[in-house]
Amino acid sequence: VRHLSVALVGFGSVGRAFARLLLETDDRLRARHGLECTVTGVATRRHGVAIDRLGLDLATLLSIEPDGSLAELHCCPHAEDTVGFIREAAADVVIEATVLDVETGGAAVEHIRSAFAAGAHVVTANKGPIACAYRDLRALATASRRQFRFEGTVMDGAPVFNLVAETLPGCEVVGFSGVLNSTTNLLLTRMEQGASLDEALADARGRGIVEANPDHDIDGHDAAAKAAALVNVLMDGTVTPRDIPTIGIRRVTRDALDAEVQRGRRLRLVARAARRGDEIAVRVGPEALPEADALARLGGTSNALTLRTDLMGELTIVEHDPGIEQTAYALLSDLIAVGRAIGVRA
Ligand SMILES: NC(=O)c1ccc[n+]([C@@H]2O[C@H](COP(=O)([O-])OP(=O)(O)OC[C@H]3O[C@@H](n4cnc5c(N)ncnc54)[C@H](OP(=O)(O)O)[C@@H]3O)[C@@H](O)[C@H]2O)c1
Repeated sequence: VRHLSVALVGFGSVGRAFARLLLETDDRLRARHGLECTVTGVATRRHGVAIDRLGLDLATLLSIEPDGSLAELHCCPHAEDTVGFIREAAADVVIEATVLDVETGGAAVEHIRSAFAAGAHVVTANKGPIACAYRDLRALATASRRQFRFEGTVMDGAPVFNLVAETLPGCEVVGFSGVLNSTTNLLLTRMEQGASLDEALADARGRGIVEANPDHDIDGHDAAAKAAALVNVLMDGTVTPRDIPTIGIRRVTRDALDAEVQRGRRLRLVARAARRGDEIAVRVGPEALPEADALARLGGTSNALTLRTDLMGELTIVEHDPGIEQTAYALLSDLIAVGRAIGVRA
């Protein structure tokens, strides 16, 4: 059994869901994957940090309320800031799950750089760095010979990046269209059923799937960040969310939704990209799709992505009604992939 120490940077909805999953799957990881994972550090911005190189007890960590402090579990010298924490935690794998910054990638970019500098592999659910700084981070990962995995940044644990990388060798992705934002899809389907935007938003909040700032979802910025991540990784592009013409669903009315339903169509927030010569055209906005379209049929928090490829035609990946557990699974599957890549028995 190979031991992997893990530092969690960010312990909000995603970090906690991952800790719960790690606790649940402990036996399976050991028996089937030859992996023994120990969380040796957890960092937050306002709720303290905890490092214990012998391993933090996950049940104890999870028993601390989200507004409580982790400081009482800390057994190391004081870390100045999150970068200091990453250095001090000295973990094999750093898991980045801090808040999204769609403008620049935010502090998460620095967290990932610091993790590579400290010799760690990186797994992230934070799409900011993949949308805004992927090339640089990929180069750093390669130069430091470390794994850099980010399956959870688009469609949670559903295979998107891994599907292309592992199962479509020799194939080029030439474009895609996707319904990639769970919140707006839930809002649009609830509004089709008669709810107002505010009522629909309250429902989405209740499910814990709304970003810290729901404007990112409603105004399409989260979808644009995912589109940028897909373009950068699957099409070797160099776009940032700012480069993508983006219209959200704020101005979509119940009447407009009804009118499309009458015409046998569904209004959905679609992210689209297509290679045109040397250029890649990308955009995000509401589109009226025929009911037969795989993207139109999605209800609730479901997501789907149709990939257009040169050798394998079109493929559609559908994720049915995901929740936070599926984001946690993305982190777990990436962690197992790191284990495999560094030679742990599959
Ligand atoms: N929620 C989802 O369904 C979902 C799905 C896929 C991907 N994601 C992505 O996963 C990430 C986390 O989402 P979430 O829902 O867990 O967010 P969240 O509940 O707001 O938690 C964010 C966590 O990051 C911590 N944090 C923020 N800035 C930090 C810094 N500079 N250093 C250390 N810790 C910092 C926060 O600490 P404080 O609480 O002390 O501020 C908090 O523990 C986001 O990037 C999001 O886009 C989320």
